[in-house]
Amino acid sequence: MKKILIAPSILSADFGRLNEEIASVEGEADLLHIDIMDGHFVPNLTFGPPIVKYIKSTVPLDCHLMVEQPENYLEELADCHVAQISVHWEACPNLHRVLMKIKELGMKAGVAINPATPVVDLTDILEMVDFVLIMSVNPGFGGQAFIEHAVEKIRELRKMDSNLVIEVDGGINKSTGLECIRAGANVLVAGSYIFEADNRIEAIKKLRQES
Ligand code: DX5
Ligand code: ZN
Repeated sequence: MKKILIAPSILSADFGRLNEEIASVEGEADLLHIDIMDGHFVPNLTFGPPIVKYIKSTVPLDCHLMVEQPENYLEELADCHVAQISVHWEACPNLHRVLMKIKELGMKAGVAINPATPVVDLTDILEMVDFVLIMSVNPGFGGQAFIEHAVEKIRELRKMDSNLVIEVDGGINKSTGLECIRAGANVLVAGSYIFEADNRIEAIKKLRQES
């Protein structure tokens, strides 16, 4: 059976106690999903590299850039020991160049697509991405309802590339997560499902469908 990776999204954590919150999922998380929002690309604002710099974790950092001109953040994030970065297709007129830059800086490069962006728009870039992030909510906020059409998009993308790493983000719980895994997803991002659970470690295991 393929290994499903779980990436807790710290958007649903208490930002005032970030490192403690991270420590509470560290034993079971495969990646730590970090949502960077600029208040322009999405109608919400979080934090940038000056905060990421202080994250203490042994879990690889997966930065999801919901910003305009993501190229302006890459070098600083590389200095924060970020393992992988996804930039939005909708935010990058020169997507190829941005992905090249992420790779040159030694990180894995991913492309995120909004619910309204079809997977066919990825055709010409698939060859050079390390992963694709399918948004199953409109980006900007945690705790939103899963958009079912994302499942079809995962299935379609899996047909386009059988080896691609497919990450899905938004409204993931045990049942929507299972639908995504069955459709071909490899990485599940979950914020509220994990951070609002009484037992966060058990919640992560449930998402992997281990218990
Ligand atoms: C939303 C973010 C997500 C968010 C998911 O724009 O990209 O990573 O934290 O939160 P949940 O899992 O609560 O939908
Ligand atoms: Zn995200």
